[in-house]
Amino acid sequence: MTIHFIGAGPGAPDLLTLRGRDLIAASPVCLYAGSLVPAALLDHCPPGARIVNSAPLSLDDIIAEMAAAHAAGYDVARLHSGDLSIWSAMGEQLRRLKALGIPFDVTPGVPAFAAAAAVLEAELTLPGLAQSLVLTRTPGRASAMPMAENLSAFGATGATLAIHLSIHNLAQTVADLIPHHGPDCPVAVVWRASWPDQRIIRATLSTIEAAVADSMERTALILVGQVLGAPDFAESSLYAPDYDRRFRPQSADSRFAESSE
Ligand SMILES: C[S@@+](CC[C@H](N)C(=O)[O-])C[C@H]1O[C@@H](n2cnc3c(N)ncnc32)[C@H](O)[C@@H]1O
Repeated sequence: MTIHFIGAGPGAPDLLTLRGRDLIAASPVCLYAGSLVPAALLDHCPPGARIVNSAPLSLDDIIAEMAAAHAAGYDVARLHSGDLSIWSAMGEQLRRLKALGIPFDVTPGVPAFAAAAAVLEAELTLPGLAQSLVLTRTPGRASAMPMAENLSAFGATGATLAIHLSIHNLAQTVADLIPHHGPDCPVAVVWRASWPDQRIIRATLSTIEAAVADSMERTALILVGQVLGAPDFAESSLYAPDYDRRFRPQSADSRFAESSE
């Protein structure tokens, strides 16, 4: 019997992988992080499934649920919002399961930053503007940041930033970034990307606080970077008509000419 960790996506029920859907449908027990996982995903559970919201549970309680299902011979679908590789608390659960000898597997999901970029119709890595994306957060009540991981340090790189769990820290976020990105740097805040009530606010570092004006809490992503504004970025060399490449050799002398078939 297996504990299936499944990325439940950013909110829209159809932003779930087919593999995730099928694992939910095949698991007699479902544990879901109720604060962010959409209830509609639970419709995939088989009839009579034991469905438990893990939001009010401790780690001990959650592992006890999994161990009980394992002892009874039941698979478990364990749902966390977005993808499991960032801020899912999956790591500590896997460590406990390994210690208990309970098998598990991991199915990825659509992360919130990708859903937010999609609603903004934005590519976050544009030639000449930014070739890196930093997925980060600011410190929270339960989560200190490692010393070197701070917005000033990331801001100094000029990379696009996707700042999670931080809408309540917007003032400090802006103050940390203006010295590096400048007051006119474009910012977008996407609240509940892909949910029916999703909201988008576009502004600059100097105007975003007033534009948001405490109208959003919790489930919002702050995206910062020149890629959100400039329409005059370079086109990628890869698709330039004269770019010599394996799939489009430019002449008989091309080093790719023989391997192009
Ligand atoms: C605990 S983290 C979970 C991240 C998740 N594992 C992922 O892959 O995106 C929660 C934070 O992710 C962001 N978030 C999650 N879902 C979101 C959504 N639908 N729209 C905007 N931000 C979202 C917010 O910054 C929120 O505070």
